[in-house]
Amino acid sequence: MSGTHSPPPRNTLPEGLVSLADHEAFAQTVLSAQASAYFNGGAADEITLRENTRAWQRIALHPRVLQPLAGGHTRVKLLGRTLAHPILVAPMAYQRLAHPHGERATALAAAALGAGLVLSTQASTRLEDVAKLVLAEPGRGPLWFQLYLQPDRGVTRSLVQRAEAAGYEALVLTVDAPVQGARDRERRAGFHLPPGIAAVNLQGMRTAATAALRPGQSALFDHLLHLAPTWEDVAWLREQTRLPLLLKGITHPSDARQALTCGAAGLIVSNHGGRTLDTVPATATVLPAIAQALGGGLPLLVDGGIRRGTDVFKAIALGASAVLVGRPVLHGLANAGATGVAHVIRLLRDELEIAMALCGCRTLETAARALAAGQAD
Ligand code: FNR
Ligand code: LAC
Repeated sequence: MSGTHSPPPRNTLPEGLVSLADHEAFAQTVLSAQASAYFNGGAADEITLRENTRAWQRIALHPRVLQPLAGGHTRVKLLGRTLAHPILVAPMAYQRLAHPHGERATALAAAALGAGLVLSTQASTRLEDVAKLVLAEPGRGPLWFQLYLQPDRGVTRSLVQRAEAAGYEALVLTVDAPVQGARDRERRAGFHLPPGIAAVNLQGMRTAATAALRPGQSALFDHLLHLAPTWEDVAWLREQTRLPLLLKGITHPSDARQALTCGAAGLIVSNHGGRTLDTVPATATVLPAIAQALGGGLPLLVDGGIRRGTDVFKAIALGASAVLVGRPVLHGLANAGATGVAHVIRLLRDELEIAMALCGCRTLETAARALAAGQAD
């Protein structure tokens, strides 16, 4: 597949897809080369991108047999709500590149399957339209808005107010991408947004202006990073909203401790799916230290490389309350719109239930024991 032209959008599930890997492979036949580079690529040599999936795979599970399992369930508690299962859709920009129904299809599927939805600041659909679809579904999961702090505080405030008015229940402030990573795959493909797809929620708003640089000045350090958010901005944001504020992109225990003191309602361990700084450790690797630093003081979520229900189970066992899933949702979306996204979420949930049952866990509260070989309980 080359250029920006894709075949007509599909809305029925192709036959023979039984795993998220199958969805990924099929999506390669559907997405344009540019969209595929944007969605699937990572930073630089994509070492972190690959490590994210491998690190979950390397963790061994220790099954227990003949345990009473009747009445088991996948429910978890998060920010004062009980969720049917711990799977949320990660915020991802420009979903109309994958399918014309874009964020609407993702939102419908997530809500129907009881999965949480985090809408990106850079969504290609109006945040109000997405909220309306999700809020109409009684069995829906949480509805959160992902925020990139804008250089102009007035712009940030107006985004926050729109999200509040539309019914979003929490803000997810992404803190790991003050600058885009060196996305080689994207640049090689010459990725650019096709006409008609844009960050519509930012349209008409003042975003980072270009600056005249003197010779020898750095566009990054002498311009862009003057506008980059700091912990002070997080404190400012806390004052602007009554919504709980989660920080996304934490990988260092010291940052986790600082988040505790600045009023965050939760943390998301994430390296942006390996799209920002390459060679950072996989999220599965850093999760235990962050969980320890928090000592149960804040709800903890994790994303990056989750491709199997066993990965979801392992994340919970390592101290997460819930997980976010990124690229597989885009693959499902490209392959069959809302039906494809629903299928991806369903597969993960089914696999999670199988993993729980085979590890002798009726509920996710006992997941940790599946990681402990030879330990009595
Ligand atoms: C992202 N991600 C992201 N994160 C964010 O906070 N705001 C955003 O707008 C985006 N946009 C975005 C676009 C695309 C195409 C991808 C693949 C990812 C990161 C995302 O929320 C999440 O952290 C990772 O995608 C999780 O890793 P996996 O599940 O894709 O491996
Ligand atoms: C990305 C930005 C939008 O990862 O967060 O592409």
